[in-house]
This record gives sequence, structure tokens and C-alpha cells, in this order.
Amino acid sequence: MAGKAGKKVASLTEKEAAAELERLAQEIAAHDARYYREDAPSISDAEYDALRLRNDEIEKRFPDLVREDSPSKKVGAAPSEKFDKVTHRVPMLSLSNAFDDEDVTEFLARIRRFLNLKEEEELAVTAEPKIDGLSASLRYEKGKFVLGATRGDGREGENVTANLRTITDIPARIKAKDIPDVFEVRGEVYMSHADFAALNERQAKDGKPVFANPRNAAAGSLRQLDSGITKSRPLRFFAYAWGEVSGLPAETQMGVIEALERWGFAVNPLMRRCLTAEEMIGFYREVEGQRAELGYDIDGVVYKVDRLDLQNRLGFVSRSPRWAIAHKFPAEQATTVLEAIDIQVGRTGALTPVARLKPVTVGGVVVSNATLHNEDEVERKDVRVGDTVVVQRAGDVIPQIVRVIEDNRPKGAKPYKFPETCPECGSHAVREINPKTGKPDAVRRCTGGLICPAQAVERLKHFVSRNAFDIEGLGSKQVEQFYKDGLIKSPADIFTLEERDSGKESLTRLKNRDGWGETSVKNLFEAINERRRVDLDRFLFGLGIRHVGETTARLLARSYGSIEALMGAMEKATGPETEAYQDLLSIDGIGDVVAEAIVDFFQEEHNREAVRALLEAGVTPQPLEAQDTGSPVAGKTVVFTGSLELFTRSEAKAKAESLGAKVSGSVSAKTDILVAGPGAGSKLKKAQELDIQVLDEQGWLDFIGEG
Ligand code: IVH
Repeated sequence: MAGKAGKKVASLTEKEAAAELERLAQEIAAHDARYYREDAPSISDAEYDALRLRNDEIEKRFPDLVREDSPSKKVGAAPSEKFDKVTHRVPMLSLSNAFDDEDVTEFLARIRRFLNLKEEEELAVTAEPKIDGLSASLRYEKGKFVLGATRGDGREGENVTANLRTITDIPARIKAKDIPDVFEVRGEVYMSHADFAALNERQAKDGKPVFANPRNAAAGSLRQLDSGITKSRPLRFFAYAWGEVSGLPAETQMGVIEALERWGFAVNPLMRRCLTAEEMIGFYREVEGQRAELGYDIDGVVYKVDRLDLQNRLGFVSRSPRWAIAHKFPAEQATTVLEAIDIQVGRTGALTPVARLKPVTVGGVVVSNATLHNEDEVERKDVRVGDTVVVQRAGDVIPQIVRVIEDNRPKGAKPYKFPETCPECGSHAVREINPKTGKPDAVRRCTGGLICPAQAVERLKHFVSRNAFDIEGLGSKQVEQFYKDGLIKSPADIFTLEERDSGKESLTRLKNRDGWGETSVKNLFEAINERRRVDLDRFLFGLGIRHVGETTARLLARSYGSIEALMGAMEKATGPETEAYQDLLSIDGIGDVVAEAIVDFFQEEHNREAVRALLEAGVTPQPLEAQDTGSPVAGKTVVFTGSLELFTRSEAKAKAESLGAKVSGSVSAKTDILVAGPGAGSKLKKAQELDIQVLDEQGWLDFIGEG
């Protein structure tokens, strides 16, 4: 692709330059459309960047030739017309994965442990194919289809009702008598192999871009702004789950799916009920054998606990249900040549080796980069530049190098020497000794900290990322550019950008910069301003504290309620002996390593300063709404003690948290309820001294309405 560019910019005649600018404008616009509208990029990011760069270089040499429709006048951002956002009242979750038979056995064992099921007690599980499409939620009120949305980030998706209405598998109205007033049907939008092939043939004939695979074709078709186009695309839908419902037609997963079928939905015909791990694995092998003949893409099978009361008891971990798992098919592989090994520096300074590959198609997608994880991995696999390597790609994970084909190794290929200095800032890169194992960490880290530009940029990218501040129009590329130009050096700079921009002379204003215009700048400032009120958990996640992922960020947000309270407490947590430190440790789900990382972060003056600067720039983190306000335990701090007999400790904790309570491991003045099983000792005594409400197990169940 880049090869087509040909002649050096310096030797282009004016006529050639004009022709080339025209070609580039068309080509880049077509790639933008593929990327943003069709979800189906046909070239790598690097190739795309090369096209834009060439365009910029030619324009620089021939400023008079800059076209009205020049790519440099548009930002590489999503189209300005957009879908409305829809908040999912019941989040759309993902599934955790099983990769082999053992993971499946362990899944069942874990559930049995969690529920304390006896060996002879039955545990039925449904098994069904995992469809490789994109999930959608369809809301029915009094049997009428009223709202349809994409998954989005799981909490918020896009309103694509008009497009979903064009899919014949989705009934506009359900006539059945037993349909509850509110029922959200969830399932997968997909395209069959035959329809996909025919669509691509049509696209090619009309001179339009073809799709890389059925999944991309389905995604691109569903996200059309003109539902007339969606209607012309052969989309299908399998129903396999539900969201908010005012009632359920059955007490088992299988029962509800049968009801969905009665109500007129397409459900997967292969779905089956299994009673043992052997049956589940048998189903998996059978489906794997039929995979090629199914006529649509699947990437594994999904197991779900059949009884809904058990599903309810099992609840969720982070973003996945404990009662379901995806058993993935092995990743697809291909062979290609490794052209270079580059080192990327992450936001925590980790040096990650990345293999640059001769582009190769793996499972319908062109792969030109793969991760090599870390130094030991490069050594273990003895990967050398010039080697022929086997790459694999599993679902949406980053492609990996499986092994080297040593017979094809070019003469003179040298073992790769991992750098001992940071390629971005020149600081020493070291492997810290893990205090627990006494062995060096697998990861080599740049010691440059604040002076390392790569770490700074990665921290900013993390800050604006989807699950953190999620600022539309401010993606990785823009962050890199703004950082390079000195416009944004720290998170707070994002929120002072508009003010600084308005004080400038018109020549240097953002809207007059390459790639920007009046509208895109206005949109960017709007998106930034919208995020001044950000949920506290997103705010904390965005800070990029080591070991603090979304789940821990949520725990902190729930426990401390505000950034001021958290910072105040962390300043007091000068050592493990302090009360503030112990309070942090008493939060269930926060252990030694995580606690230390959080305390360390807030003990650093420059981190506190970064937070203060954000608050001063007008960012106001919003406390999380107490979950499930209907529950009497929402917002309360609960401690479980003694040997529990009516439920397991993990079950009790998960249930309490799902009702919006905080679960703590120790009794203090902040405790609201102590649930004491038989044999409770010192905690019970302390609770009585502090006059805290004490419940026995049955009392607790009655209290939360599950008695
Ligand atoms: S159940 C709470 N069943 O897989 C569980 N998901 O990794 C909700 N998917 O986002 C999902 N086939 O897009 C379920 N038979 C199936 C599925 C399936 C495909 C997708 C779905 C989901 C993703 C989770």
C-alpha cells in the first residue's frame, strides 16, 4: 500500500503533487470510512500513518495545492453524526475464559465450593455455541420492541433501535400471554458465511470496500447511520440471555431460552443441558467437529449454571458472572517472518518487546505486530530478527508468537539482546527483585519515572481511555500529538486546554492546526467539559495507580466516598501500624501488595499535586450512587464472623456487595452490622462493646429479604 506512493516528495513536480494529493485524499477518506464506519480497517495503523505523513509532506512543499477535502483538515475521529447513548440498567457483562479441559473441571469445582454443594447434589449446566458476532440488548415493554442498544463498554451502549428493527430474527411485537411487562432480550447479531460471501461480492462489484470477516461485516452493518443500509445487509440474531426484566417465565436458563423461542426469537438449536464435566467437554468436542459446517462463525462454547436461583447466589466477579464461562477454541495460527523487534515503554515503565511482522492473515484479520511479553520470553523462545515464526490470534487478544521455525533461520541471525536502558529516555532499565520470591521480576522497567516521556504519554493515554475518563475525540493519536507539542503534559492540562487556547493568538490556536478545524475543536472541548463530572471510580482508575484496576478503584470509591476522604486517609497511612493503613487493608479485596501501592502513590507529593491540579481545573469526581437503593444494607459496612452454615463466606460477601454494602474484615466504629455464625469470638465481643447491630445468619437473610 505505502509502496504505491513511489516517488520521493522532494522530486515531485507540481502536477504530480496535485495528482497525488487527490489520490491520497480519496484513499485516506476510504480508510477512514472503513475504520470508523465499517469497523473493518484494511491496512495497519502504521501504513495508514504513512499515507497521512506523505500527504502532510507534500502539502508542506506545495502549500498552494492544499485541497478543500484534504485529510489534514479533518481529525481522524469518528463521524460527527452519532448514535444516542443508552445506559444499560443491568450491565452487559463479559465472560471469563476456559482454554482447556482442566479449566472446565475447575469451573465446576469452584462453583461447588462457593455454594458448598455436596458431591451427590446435582449441578446442571447448559452448553451452547459462542457466536462470533456482536451483542445487543432489545427492550420489550408490554411485548413491544421499544429500544435496542449495542453493548458499548457494558454500562453504556449506542441506541441502534432503528437498525435492529430491520433484522427479521427480531420480532417487533411479542404476542405471548406470559411476556412480562418489561423484558430485555440479549443475544448476538451475526452474519452467516453465505450471506457474508454474497455481501462482499456485491460490495466488490459496486467498487465498495469488502469486509475482513463476518464479524466486522455484522458490526459495520449494525452501526450504519442510515438504517436503509442496515436493512440491505443480511443480519441475524440469536437470543441467549436477558437484562432488566419485571418477571421471568421459568426457573432455569433452559426454561427461559425455551420461552424466548416460544415468543418468536431464534435460539441456538445446539444448546444442551449437561450434568458433568465429561458431558460438557463432550459437547465442546462435538461442536468443534461441526464448526466448519455450521454456516456461521463461533469461537467456542459457553456453559451456564442452569438453575437461576443458583445463578443468583453465585453472582458476579468484577465484570463476569461466576455462573458462566466461555470455553474457547484453540487460537488460529499462521507463519510469517519477523522483521524487527521494537521495545515499547508502558505507563509503569515496563519495557515490552513487540515483534514487527511481515503482514499475514490469521483467522481473517491482517496481523503485523505481536507481543513477545518480556525479556525471558524472548530468550526462552530464542526469537531472532529474520526468523520465520508461528503467530496465533485468539479472539480479540493481542497476537502472540508461538514458536520459531529454526530450520528457516537465516545464516548469521544473532540472539536478541534486550536493552538495559530505556529506548525513550535513556534511563537505566532494571529488573527489580521480587521481595517475596527473591527472584528478579520478569519485567524490566525504566527507572526514568517522571522524566520518561513514554511513561508520561502512556499514563495520559490510560487517563483518557474508555474505562477511565473516556474523552471522545481524544484518543491515543491525539494525546501523542498534544504531548509532543507541549500542549498536554499532565492530566490536568486536558482540562485547561480550552482556557489556554482561547487566550492565544489566532495563528497558534488549536482550530488552525493541521488536522483540526472549528467543529472538531468545539466537539473536543465539549467532550472534555462533559467529563469534568466523572464517576469517582473512573477518576481513581484513570490515575493509573499500580495494581489498581477497575474493581479495586470501585472498592476504593465505595469505601471512601470522595477523593478528599481517600487522600486524607492515605496521607495518614504512613505505615502499616497506622489506623488509616489498617482501614484500607480491612477492605475485602484489598491485600498487602495493593494497599502498599495505593499508599505509596498518595505519599508521593507529585501524585497528590496531580490530583489537586485536576480538582483545581474543575474536575469534580462524583460519589458512586449506592447500588440497589431498595436494599436495607446499601451503603452499610458489614462484617461476617464465626463459622457460617447457611451460606459460604464468599457467597455472603458477594451477595452483600451486590446489594451495595461494604464488606470489611474487622470490626470498628465504622461497622454497621456484624453477622455472627456459631463460634464467633472476639469480633462479636467488640461489636457488642461498640453497640453494633448483631445478626445471626438467618437474621441476616431475613434482613436482606432472602429469608
Ligand atoms: S452469555 C452474562 N452466551 O460473548 C453472560 N454470550 O465474552 C452474557 N457471546 O458479550 C453472555 N455467544 O457477545 C453468552 N451463547 C452465548 C454467547 C455469548 C457469544 C458473546 C457475547 C458476550 C461475550 C462475552
